[in-house]
Amino acid sequence: MENSKSSYVKIINEICAEEGIKLSSYSYDWAFCLRKDQKRAFILGYQFGLNPSSVQQVCNDKNIASEVLKEEDIPSVYHACFMAPSMLQYTGGKGSWKALLAELEKGTLVCKDNYGTGGNLVFKVRTQAELEQAASDIYKSSEAMAVCRYEDIQSEYRLVVLDGEIRLAFSKIRPSLTGDGVSTVGKLLAEAIAKGQIHSFLVPNEAELSKVPAKDETYLLNWKHNLGQGASALTLSIPDLEEELVSLVKKTAKALGIRFASIDMIKTKAGWKVLEVNAGVMMEHFASSGENQYITAKAIYRDAILKMFEG
Ligand SMILES: Nc1ncnc2c1ncn2[C@@H]1O[C@H](COP(=O)(O)OP(=O)(O)O)[C@@H](O)[C@H]1O
Ligand SMILES: [Mg+2]
Repeated sequence: MENSKSSYVKIINEICAEEGIKLSSYSYDWAFCLRKDQKRAFILGYQFGLNPSSVQQVCNDKNIASEVLKEEDIPSVYHACFMAPSMLQYTGGKGSWKALLAELEKGTLVCKDNYGTGGNLVFKVRTQAELEQAASDIYKSSEAMAVCRYEDIQSEYRLVVLDGEIRLAFSKIRPSLTGDGVSTVGKLLAEAIAKGQIHSFLVPNEAELSKVPAKDETYLLNWKHNLGQGASALTLSIPDLEEELVSLVKKTAKALGIRFASIDMIKTKAGWKVLEVNAGVMMEHFASSGENQYITAKAIYRDAILKMFEG
């Protein structure tokens, strides 16, 4: 989508007009300068200038952020870092392949671009061939691959935090089909698309398309929970969030020294864990999913913008 047509850009324009802030936009609405009473502040992409730039970069580095959380004893998905061969001059030249294969021996892995977003270049890896494919794809455009153990995720939540307070919580619901005991995945999928129930999904391979899910069985169309890959957001009541979750999210923001963030949490058999911390607060899919969601996202962005002019 063109930036200028996004809910996000519309929200920033509305807030600035309502608050008497002069707004200049650059680079196809990717960057903004906000001016009020001799003060100026910048928004770049989804970065609001509330987080120091080093904190922002630490959070966007999946390996470093997970190392910090591990040191702070915060339950989180540990992401090891394997640098691209082109970086061997900085890493000591030992190479990564033996260690990667040893990790794979222990079970399924998830390999990612260490700096990625939106679920791009995130691969589930079960075999050596899949590992080679994932590494090859990731190193084409990234200097570092983050590798973690595959987790059996019961639910994945996104929590938006502003100055230690949870301002928004939603559950990410992956696109799925419900079996009727007779139809194949291919038929159920075609019907769901025709009814407009499904918009974005990973195309299942031939063997999957011919499977027949049992009656009332939930067949997931994507193992990833990214909103940009077909998942939808189900808003949650903040006062009803589990105490363990709330405490972990607040500890995480504090440990990383981050003021404005969206924190992704997963629930597994072992309890809640931090999956990732995004220093950029992107609520485009959420804000576009309904009028109330738009109002909620706008209220959060308004407070973030006003805080940029404090002090
Ligand atoms: N270790 C893991 N186990 C199971 N699923 C995972 C794991 N890591 C990531 N995922 C799934 O993939 C999605 C994208 O991974 P994430 O680390 O959030 O990358 P990105 O920053 O590109 O969104 C997550 O939302 C989650 O559903
Ligand atoms: Mg993510």
